[in-house]
Amino acid sequence: MHPDAITVAYTTQLRPMPDISKDNTAPDTPLAATKKETTAIVDLPDFERQAKAVLPAMAWDYLAGGAADELTLRWNRESYDRLRLRPRVLVDVSELDTRLTLFGKVLPFPFLLAPTAYQRLMHPDGELATVAGAGAAEATLVLSSFSTVALETLAAAATHPLWFQLYINPDRAFTRDLVGRAIAAKCQALILTVDTPVLGPRYRELRSAFALPPGMERANLKGMATAAGAHRPTERNIFSAVLDPRATWKDIEWLRSFTTVPLLLKGILNPDDAERAIQAGVDGIIVSNHGARNLDTVPATIDALPEVVAKVAGRVPVLVDGGIRRGTDILKALALGATATLIGRPYVCGLAVEGPKGVARVVNILRRELEMAMALSGRTTLAAIDPSVIWR
Ligand code: FNR
Repeated sequence: MHPDAITVAYTTQLRPMPDISKDNTAPDTPLAATKKETTAIVDLPDFERQAKAVLPAMAWDYLAGGAADELTLRWNRESYDRLRLRPRVLVDVSELDTRLTLFGKVLPFPFLLAPTAYQRLMHPDGELATVAGAGAAEATLVLSSFSTVALETLAAAATHPLWFQLYINPDRAFTRDLVGRAIAAKCQALILTVDTPVLGPRYRELRSAFALPPGMERANLKGMATAAGAHRPTERNIFSAVLDPRATWKDIEWLRSFTTVPLLLKGILNPDDAERAIQAGVDGIIVSNHGARNLDTVPATIDALPEVVAKVAGRVPVLVDGGIRRGTDILKALALGATATLIGRPYVCGLAVEGPKGVARVVNILRRELEMAMALSGRTTLAAIDPSVIWR
């Protein structure tokens, strides 16, 4: 039902006083109708609440949790909330253009769907449902190395461009082969995640005894001994069999030598690392703290962004993720110099609640909120979103 139905319930003609001896929650009373409407899912926090209600505890804890005390998890949100906007009025906003050209391709709006692992925990069709929802909403989806459906199957089903996210596996021949598979499947860019030589202390996962259920596996790693095994470190071991703790800048040069699509590094917070990445020949940088799941007490990504943007000085695109839940968050990120943004948990909540439709709805809601934020702040194009959008 349309959200405006709430108003409609209150503006219809006054009815006679209800007989209070009867159950006034009967469905034909305007009040009961209104009550129902308040449970409608209309924004991203609604999807989050509903996902928590429908998911098994283990899946929810895996999805929602952060590292250790979850301070960075909180800051990722709080820092957006603290930023205030400085609007301009009486600008003709009848035409809004949210298009962005990235690596020679036009994206209809400046956010992508970040790589998230193990989506069959959230929906029976897992990543296949996400691919369908992303395609319906024209969103670019970044496939995770740790998807529970093989990348080739996902690429065959996709109606919209895909990117691929890579973790360097201790088996370098396998890593190289996986990149080849992603490129052969027409993934348009490669994101190497560099903030995870080991996992962080994710205590929510530990408490709910996170494990992939039987029959679910890291489908891209099929054939390897580690495809289905636990990659959670045990109490005295911090290393994972599927993440190489030996990876260094040398490996970026190695990767660069056979990667024929744009290569981005995800998980940069320090401007010195951004500089080093550019020296190593990467095509883009993603300011990310892995959704606050790895090293607790690093800054919120929106706080780390400006220094990285200043250091990069326009040489390559700088993307940012972490805590984005509103169109105004995207406006703020772009104002502080991001070329584009990514969302993680929100679309996974959409997947959990409504499958492909939920993924598409999350994208469409955010897109609509961004358009509203642009119109209401008097900025009609992405180019017009500059630091003056922020109230200092
Ligand atoms: C992630 N993230 C992630 N990143 C990555 O490079 N490879 C991966 O496989 C995963 N898996 C993953 C699973 C889940 C459940 C979450 C929540 C996150 C991190 C992800 O790409 C992104 O950086 C964050 O999710 C962004 O923060 P928000 O939007 O979730 O606040």
